[in-house]
Amino acid sequence: MWIRFHSGGSGREQEQIERALERVGIPRTCRDSPVGSGPGVVFFRGPYGEALPFLREASGFGRGRVLAVSLDPVRLPAQACWQLLSAGAGDIIEWHLLPNAAECVAARLARWAEIEEIVQSPLVAENLVGRSPAWLALLRQVVETACFSAGSVLLLGPSGTGKELLARLIHTLDRRAAKRDLVILDCTTIAPELSGSEFFGHERGAFTGAVAARDGAFALAHGGTLFLDEVGELPPPLQAQLLRVIQEGQYKRVGGNTWYGTDFRLICATNRDLPREVEQGRFRADLYYRLAGAVLRIPPLAERREDAIPLAEFFLSQAVTEAASFDDAVKEYLLARDYPGNVRDLKQLVFRMAQRHAGPGPVSVGDIPEDDRPLPPASAGWADGDLDLPVRRALLAGAGLKEIGRLASDIAIRIALEDAGGNLQQAARRLQVTDRALQMRRAAGRQNSDGQGPPKTAAG
Ligand SMILES: Nc1ncnc2c1ncn2[C@@H]1O[C@H](COP(=O)(O)OP(=O)(O)OP(=O)(O)O)[C@@H](O)[C@H]1O
Ligand SMILES: [Mg+2]
Repeated sequence: MWIRFHSGGSGREQEQIERALERVGIPRTCRDSPVGSGPGVVFFRGPYGEALPFLREASGFGRGRVLAVSLDPVRLPAQACWQLLSAGAGDIIEWHLLPNAAECVAARLARWAEIEEIVQSPLVAENLVGRSPAWLALLRQVVETACFSAGSVLLLGPSGTGKELLARLIHTLDRRAAKRDLVILDCTTIAPELSGSEFFGHERGAFTGAVAARDGAFALAHGGTLFLDEVGELPPPLQAQLLRVIQEGQYKRVGGNTWYGTDFRLICATNRDLPREVEQGRFRADLYYRLAGAVLRIPPLAERREDAIPLAEFFLSQAVTEAASFDDAVKEYLLARDYPGNVRDLKQLVFRMAQRHAGPGPVSVGDIPEDDRPLPPASAGWADGDLDLPVRRALLAGAGLKEIGRLASDIAIRIALEDAGGNLQQAARRLQVTDRALQMRRAAGRQNSDGQGPPKTAAG
């Protein structure tokens, strides 16, 4: 845990704040802890824009959690709150507007620390690989939802992003006393004529072939979790059937007249854009709102490229028994490649490479199967046509050659840094420039975009 007074706060005020924090269990020594060592607090006053660059860096571009505390005696404008949040603040507290601000700070830090401990625990970190800001933010939401709520969860994300893995994690982390099993029902595999029996069970003789009574998914999930996978594929008649049991926890078996009660946590997943399906009338709005207690969006691998290498190494360790690694050329290839099937795609690619690989030594480019190799540069045509439109727009808007060139380099720098997880040396190598040149470009870019000097360093 760390604390910084970024701007504002006289010596006397800082002393009062430290004393108030001490009373709620946050020691003064937090001012000496390095920025980034667990959750942190940044106090600021005055033009909030000046705190933004510091917040970005201090939150590790979204890797860590930082609480922004305003020392202004007046309310922050809404715009300021959104900008602080998007710069990396996990939450915002207005110190002088709350009678118990120190308790509020302590409660948030305690909750974040608890979540962080679970996210970093072997159960999560060793099974759900990835440390990109987007993946970490999702894991925090998953842990928070699983541990601190009992409501339904809707997992939205493209195919192969890990929805089932996350559903299993939510069930594992769920803190209900005497929690029972996780029951998985894949909505794509239910034949409409058998759906009633699959969901609700049936009585003996309910239909031809029903030689014995049988429990359905809602009965089996009682006391546990029901995971409805591919819920977006449910045809309208089945959507209607599910409404009552999900809302009231009451159902009848097929061929029976008795109402049974069931109590379960519902998790649903789909790779469809369900809110859009609702808008277009293909999915019932009343059912959607019952499923969507918490909505968690799982980013495609393209939005967290830096996870590609740790994931590939994880899958390689599963595929081969002896210790193995990838050489630099293969790593570069893995980073640059597209994964339409997301993590599953990457996993299968690694398994194909592992089959070809003969140890010892790292996996090398020859292990990449022919079909998976990129086209040679001459025909790859990375800019074929794609750049025409934005460049045309820039010219129409009056931008000159220098400005267009600078913008393209800024984008290349941002992407290389994102892919390298913020590692300057790695990004510089990929961009074929020196570390120093990259540092200078970044500083110049920052000055241009903020319209102010380099970021203030934290005092204290
Ligand atoms: N973060 C991750 N760490 C380790 N393995 C992962 C991760 N994400 C996905 N996987 C693996 O990738 C594969 C696909 O994951 P999963 O089946 O959970 O995806 P899904 O989103 O349910 O896909 P679909 O929409 O196609 O059903 C599985 O083998 C899973 O173990
Ligand atoms: Mg799935």
